[in-house]
Amino acid sequence: MKSVYIHIPFCSSICFYCDFCKIFYIDKWVMPYLDALKKEIKERYNNEPIRTLYIGGGTPSVLSINELIYLFDIIKILDLSKLEEFTFECNIDSISFEKLILLKKNGVNRISLGIQSFDKEILNTLGIERTNNKVFEIIEIIRNIGFNNINMDLIYGVKDETLEILEKDLDIFLSLNPEHISCYSLMIEPHTKLYIDKIKPIDEDLDYEMYKMIEDRLKSNDYIHYEISNYSKKGFESKHNLVYWNNDEYYGFGLGASSFIGNNRIDNNKNLTEYLNNNYKYNSIDISKENIKYALMLGFRKIKGINIEEFNEKYNSNILSLLDKLIKEGKIDNKEGYAFINEEWVYKMNEILMEII
Ligand SMILES: C[S@@+](CC[C@H](N)C(=O)[O-])C[C@H]1O[C@@H](n2cnc3c(N)ncnc32)[C@H](O)[C@@H]1O
Ligand code: SF4
Repeated sequence: MKSVYIHIPFCSSICFYCDFCKIFYIDKWVMPYLDALKKEIKERYNNEPIRTLYIGGGTPSVLSINELIYLFDIIKILDLSKLEEFTFECNIDSISFEKLILLKKNGVNRISLGIQSFDKEILNTLGIERTNNKVFEIIEIIRNIGFNNINMDLIYGVKDETLEILEKDLDIFLSLNPEHISCYSLMIEPHTKLYIDKIKPIDEDLDYEMYKMIEDRLKSNDYIHYEISNYSKKGFESKHNLVYWNNDEYYGFGLGASSFIGNNRIDNNKNLTEYLNNNYKYNSIDISKENIKYALMLGFRKIKGINIEEFNEKYNSNILSLLDKLIKEGKIDNKEGYAFINEEWVYKMNEILMEII
């Protein structure tokens, strides 16, 4: 069983913070892109049953109804008979009742919405134009159609954001009662408008206070903090993302997508012209020697940590002796068969992961 990520790079507008592989939606490129995607899947896919499928972007919901119909036709190449989770990323400005009905008809059972914030100033800084009423309206449609697994992305730590603003954002997120919330501290990435405009990251202490506020509020509202940036109601952890954090295999199809198959990490071409000419692959590295490092770095992102027995068997190793130094320093602990980063170190996880490397 494997997992599949499919990348749809088109967006109707480009957010000021975004460094993902994305391009403006221009309709004459979409069908050729989907043709190239179909060819890539046909060439690379080995007919394994697929357990989780994630269509992300970019903005997959920006595709027109006809383009979506073609996309759903393409994924029929995959063996979806054992599919457990099918996520589709949507943006408020491009999704509609008709498109959502089409998603439902084609087996999508999880909707991921890039909300980021409800605060006008924050949205302005991030380059997102949208009204809160439109968000509420779309969420009601999603619920009425019968989707019962919704993720909402939240961004915090934006220039001039205060704890009060974040608190109000959390109030609204909680009132919408999503099954899953991903919370990201804003990263000012090179080449983005925020970076070019020399917008500075917020103070580290405030960032920590915001992280703690999110954790406290969400935990006291029955969300489980199961990964550094991710919270869910019980039973609604993202099965697809857990594949990444468990260092399991997955295909990534589409422009700039990454795969982990066999012992190879494969990066697809980010150049659209190359991709349209069926030059999918950009880079492939055999990581057999570093695989254990990947497993630790990804696995420790999970708050529950790494299952000791499974890890030792899979990597023919002994995780506790490997991490002896960090355990003695009190940074890593083990309990009930799991090795995990100690609570007070979770926020500074990157420092520990650097030590592991
Ligand atoms: C891969 S993006 C694409 C999702 C979709 N296109 C959208 O904008 O909603 C997924 C999420 O990553 C987060 N993200 C993207 N760039 C970020 C940045 N520079 N700093 C923090 N979070 C970021 C946002 O929350 C975004 O919704
Ligand atoms: S954040 Fe999402 S919608 Fe905005 S530019 Fe990036 S991929 Fe497109």
